[in-house]
Amino acid sequence: MVMLVGMLTLGVPLSATAQPPQPPPPPPSTYRVVGVDNAAARTAIARQGAEILGIGRDFLEIRATPAQAEQLRAGGLQLVPLPAAAPIPVGPGKFPVGYQGYHTYAQLTDELNALAAAHPNQVAVSSYGKSVQGRPLLLVKVSDDVHTDKRGPEVLFTCAQHAREHLTVEMCLHIVKRLAQGYGTDPTITRLVRSREVWVAPMVNPDGAEYDIATGLFALWRKNRQPTPGTTDVGTDTNRNWGDEWACCGGSSANPGSDAYHGPAPFSAPETAQLRNWVNSRVIGGVQQIIAHIDFHSFSELVLWPYGFTTDATGPGLSASDAAVFRKLGEAMAATNGYTPEQSSHLYVTDGSIGDWMWAQHHIWSYTMEMYPTSLTQGGFYPPATVIDRETARNDKAVDLLLDYADCVPRITGASCSRP
Ligand code: ARG
Ligand code: ZN
Repeated sequence: MVMLVGMLTLGVPLSATAQPPQPPPPPPSTYRVVGVDNAAARTAIARQGAEILGIGRDFLEIRATPAQAEQLRAGGLQLVPLPAAAPIPVGPGKFPVGYQGYHTYAQLTDELNALAAAHPNQVAVSSYGKSVQGRPLLLVKVSDDVHTDKRGPEVLFTCAQHAREHLTVEMCLHIVKRLAQGYGTDPTITRLVRSREVWVAPMVNPDGAEYDIATGLFALWRKNRQPTPGTTDVGTDTNRNWGDEWACCGGSSANPGSDAYHGPAPFSAPETAQLRNWVNSRVIGGVQQIIAHIDFHSFSELVLWPYGFTTDATGPGLSASDAAVFRKLGEAMAATNGYTPEQSSHLYVTDGSIGDWMWAQHHIWSYTMEMYPTSLTQGGFYPPATVIDRETARNDKAVDLLLDYADCVPRITGASCSRP
């Protein structure tokens, strides 16, 4: 297993050679913080500026600058440094050795277009806008009569809001491939593709994903690539930029240099704003067509549901019976893939995340899944390409469950739906 953390070129602009030399800031390092076992303690550590990378039952894996590490230690926490190792680069803009099975933006585009060409009535590729750097934001639709807007329930899958979470791109691509290729051959898939309209946004943050591999080594980059006016900092965390309870609760950062920077205003990130606009456009005749959603992330092997901004089980517009539905389907999906199911704020509090907005704005049953692995020592954000097939297929049953319940998600608790 190649370990990658600690060898980061993080924060070094690509044009660094063209600029006057300046002393680099002390590089952040990764640590295991032992004896941390609850959301309050995790949220407190996140609020001090250290970045949470992985979470275990009684430990945290974080990235912190020397100053942050010192502050945490001064607060009585025990930090154990994690080892670092670099993979072998293949070339600029390419995945390193051992990662060739992952798709760059160009390879993803080609592969999706090939799937659309092979299945012209089941797969259609379009875009819902452009990234900061002008890359089309890819959108795939899968259905049995894909060029017709049918009446059936719609389901959305989104991947790679976070640049370095490359395994999630493979997850979205796998969903498209499996549904397209299973249609007409696999009875379950055929039934689901006939009765649903499936939307996939496979790389919500393409600029960040490309930046992460731009040097040929991984940059451990998370945010988009939008400069923050008035600073030298680049990047807004798209998953702290959604407009529900934006920046409300200490679940994001106002510091443009932070990896959890929420941006200057809700929806200031074009990638977030345009995905919002597209989701809003699925309101037809006053009815939101999208019923259910999964936003894929890595890593930690979790199934999470709203709200993230509050640790309360209920909140504005989220009743006790809604919470019971979220939990029941979340647990049912987790039973198929072995992930841990929990309300998202039980991990740590976040504000401005996609799931809170999807629910608050549209009552879309929105889940966040954190994929393989469970820790940095198993590869963290960068597991080798050899795990892609296994770890994407691992979610097939969960995806099918969500698609199946999309006619009426509350029926999982025996409740009925007011609309079909
Ligand atoms: N790890 C993802 C993020 O930081 C998902 C967070 C899910 N929400 C939460 N409240 N923990 O954006
Ligand atoms: Zn993420």
